[in-house]
Amino acid sequence: MNLEVNKQRLTSEIEELALISDAEAPAVTRIVFTPTDLRARAWFLERCKKAGLATRQDAIGNIFARWKGQDANAAAVGTGSHIDAIPNAGKYDGVVGVLGGLEAIRVLQQSGFNPKRSIELILFTSEEPTRFGIGCLGSRLLSGSLSADAVKKLTDKDSASIEQARRTAGFQGELETVKLSAGHYQAFVELHIEQGPLLEQKNISLGIVSKIAAPSSFRIFIDGAGGHAGGVLMPDRHDALCAASELILAIEQQAKTSGSTDTVATVGICEVFPGAVNSIPSRVHLSLDIRDTDLQRRDSLIAAAEASSQAIAANRGVTIRQELVNADAPGDCAANIVETLSESCKKHRLSFLPMVSRAYHDSLFMSRIAPVGMLFIPCRNGYSHRPDEYASPEDIARGTLVLAETLRSLAS
Ligand code: GLV
Ligand code: MN
Ligand code: MN
Repeated sequence: MNLEVNKQRLTSEIEELALISDAEAPAVTRIVFTPTDLRARAWFLERCKKAGLATRQDAIGNIFARWKGQDANAAAVGTGSHIDAIPNAGKYDGVVGVLGGLEAIRVLQQSGFNPKRSIELILFTSEEPTRFGIGCLGSRLLSGSLSADAVKKLTDKDSASIEQARRTAGFQGELETVKLSAGHYQAFVELHIEQGPLLEQKNISLGIVSKIAAPSSFRIFIDGAGGHAGGVLMPDRHDALCAASELILAIEQQAKTSGSTDTVATVGICEVFPGAVNSIPSRVHLSLDIRDTDLQRRDSLIAAAEASSQAIAANRGVTIRQELVNADAPGDCAANIVETLSESCKKHRLSFLPMVSRAYHDSLFMSRIAPVGMLFIPCRNGYSHRPDEYASPEDIARGTLVLAETLRSLAS
């Protein structure tokens, strides 16, 4: 049975979805539970229905689109990703895993394949942490990595609670019902852009992931003393932004000297109060994101950042409070799925590179309840989370072909 990806159909769907955005093209902004996110979900559901898939949505808004297998009771094979996009993002992050997954199912349907196990396409809610401060909300809840009670406490920057936001968006039911048991999926495979430059640099078609790095994230609150920018002399200041700057640079230095290039640390948010030209900053809020492929090394960096906070606070007469958002362990891809992905690449004579994922993905949380695998496609210059993110139709089609082949093996 020949598998033929309809490159034209897939490319035009990616382009169409990119237009459902709160940013001007080519940028994409699609924040969870906004009217734009809801329009994109409705558009996606239409396409799933057209492909004859049975759809359901859970209480957090994860969408499941199932192609029923001959053995309806057998554990399903899952695939999918996310379509939410951070502010000023590109078209491909997450989207190629969702629309590529849909195309893989259509390719298999058209080939005459009759799956033994059901194949289920999942659109995960809020992989991006933009609105509620924590990434992979849907997959965390689904896999039991975050409790319903913890989710209920989440609010956005306007203090809207997630309970209110999801119910207004039309997702009713209790969050306790979202969790799925281990064994619900026989396997889960996610197609994603690499978000790094290696495949392009090495001119290799696809990446097969063995391990997903350990992410962690914090909110840091610095309280100093404000005052008149002219009136308060330098020796008398407790400037919260100067303390924040020193801390940011200390953390950068610690990440650079961890002994491995796998250690990365980023301060992506810096909110300054009161934010006036002639007023000394009295309060600062920072976000801190620390990741590593090695859990111990990641945790040593967290400890070092905390030690720097305390030293800088004492030195400058400010207070610094570090609040944990998440500190997750790394995830391993399952050997049998890595093997199936490799065999699928070989079958179609496509080169592949074993790699680690430095970005986190819904697969990290799916790995807590199912054997998972991830397939990466190259993206230009490794760019991601920016409007010029780009993956070629040919590369996307190659990834989709290997995904389809892999789903066929796993669902047979
Ligand atoms: C996901 O978008 C990540 O930040 O790794
Ligand atoms: Mn992303
Ligand atoms: Mn992503």
